[in-house]
Amino acid sequence: MKKITTLLFLIIVFQLNAQNPIIIPGTLSGTDINLTLQNGTHQFYNGINTTTMGVNGNILGPTIILDKGDFVNFSVENLIGETTTIHWHGLHVAPENDGGPHTTILPGETWTPSFTILDKAATYWYHPHLHEKTNEHVSKGIAGMIIVKDNEEAALTLPRTYGEDDFPIVIQTKDFDVNNEIVVPSNSDDIIMVNATIDPQLDIPAQVVRLRLLNGSSMRTFNMGLNANQSFYQIASDGGLLNESVLLTRLRMAPGERAEILIDLTGMQGQTLQLMSYASEFQNGIYGATNPGMGAGMVLNGYNPNPLNGADFTILQLDVVSPIGNPVTTIPNALVTVTPILEGTEDITRNLVMTSVNGGPQQLNGDFVINGVPFNMNVVNYEIPLGNTEIWRITNSSAIAHPFHIHDVQFYILDREGVPPAPSEQGLKDVIYVLPQETVRFITKFEDFANPDVPYMYHCHMLYHEDRGMMGQFTVVDNLGIGDLNLDQGVAIYPNPSKGVVNLKTSEGVIVSKIEIYNVLGSFIKSIEISNNQDSIDANELSEGMYLLKIVSNQGEVTKKLIIN
Ligand code: C2O
Ligand code: CU
Ligand code: CU
Repeated sequence: MKKITTLLFLIIVFQLNAQNPIIIPGTLSGTDINLTLQNGTHQFYNGINTTTMGVNGNILGPTIILDKGDFVNFSVENLIGETTTIHWHGLHVAPENDGGPHTTILPGETWTPSFTILDKAATYWYHPHLHEKTNEHVSKGIAGMIIVKDNEEAALTLPRTYGEDDFPIVIQTKDFDVNNEIVVPSNSDDIIMVNATIDPQLDIPAQVVRLRLLNGSSMRTFNMGLNANQSFYQIASDGGLLNESVLLTRLRMAPGERAEILIDLTGMQGQTLQLMSYASEFQNGIYGATNPGMGAGMVLNGYNPNPLNGADFTILQLDVVSPIGNPVTTIPNALVTVTPILEGTEDITRNLVMTSVNGGPQQLNGDFVINGVPFNMNVVNYEIPLGNTEIWRITNSSAIAHPFHIHDVQFYILDREGVPPAPSEQGLKDVIYVLPQETVRFITKFEDFANPDVPYMYHCHMLYHEDRGMMGQFTVVDNLGIGDLNLDQGVAIYPNPSKGVVNLKTSEGVIVSKIEIYNVLGSFIKSIEISNNQDSIDANELSEGMYLLKIVSNQGEVTKKLIIN
């Protein structure tokens, strides 16, 4: 008996100390990118299978490497057995290619958006975005990094050999139940991982290295730093390189945010560094601090106790090994010329206020809303004229900080409480962390893409908040053009919106055989067989709202959106 106890003890000690080399996700590049969303299992813990979702594998997805200016064909096959979407977080694409909640991929379907990469070299990411399901699909493992390359970046002396001196670092926390299954939603996320590896370790060469940091957590904010007060240099924010390298010892990263950093490890071979979160330094009101609300005593269900809250902890152990070929040994000072949009050029300022709806301003559990209204798939909150330059002024009137994210555009932060942003926030951003009671302003321009039918989202990137309605949507409208009937795959439906009768218009030779109706969350409602020459369907029994019609014809299948009003 004693022997067994000792053995168990040894096993436990061993497991506590074991470091696991991080998975470096494989890459996809070129102009044809094929993704398959699938169910699987992953051993977060040795020998124990946890149910997961992944892309082209069991957990997370490949890193997609794209060249600015390329026209890229994507194919996203959905084999997870339920409806989802894939959103290209940070990329400037047309709304129908953006993968927001309206662009559902039904089970078994393949979504094939194609678009030109217009964004600057930086680190972006992709993840599901089905309304009310984003947290579950992301937490179970569907997420991947996107690296965009361009000539400006290529002209700089920077580490850029993937997996050798340039590393994808996807940081997430999760909560596991007693059966080692992932709990969603949860405020008890106490397990930290990098690239889906717990107790992660990376062998890293003794030269200048680049880490592409992504906070892919559902809720938690990190206060990134290196142990022993070792400094590092930030070179990029969400949407591009900064003007110059910014010397830092701390970098706060909220969910959805990315940063690229350089660390000079020259001559440090044989040493070990820890990439840390110094969450003990967080003020109250941050998910990750001891008190996630502005004052002590505000309760967030499930949050305490948790060894990560308000504590300093290791995110990733870096073991410095011998240098590799053609090492970069210096940190460039000047990077690119960032040209912010100037205040005074805006067409309009919009005010957005974040509040808690249930239980008043002290409440941390939500639900949270923007401008007093929860997200509604059928309500477009703003119609923005194509070409508008806008200032968005965001006030957080709740007791907990929220990362605000907007689709379609990158923005420049004008100020936080009237104070211009610190150097690390002077570049392009698509997420801004708004502290409790803080007001921030950013400026941006809505260019290139307009579509009155498909909205873009803005929302809190804490995924539980987003799923519970802390989201809104906007369309960008080109007031000059009104779309003709969309004869995609040779079939169009009209009128749309409709009051009950939906007409079918088909091109020469196209024969429709069946129409399947789904609600906007992707749940199947009914199937209608279409006989020869039938040119309309009766949709009177559908209540008001938005629907998806999967139209099957001799040309294949096409899914169209229908509004019943
Ligand atoms: Cu990363 Cu709308 O999301
Ligand atoms: Cu996004
Ligand atoms: Cu939030």
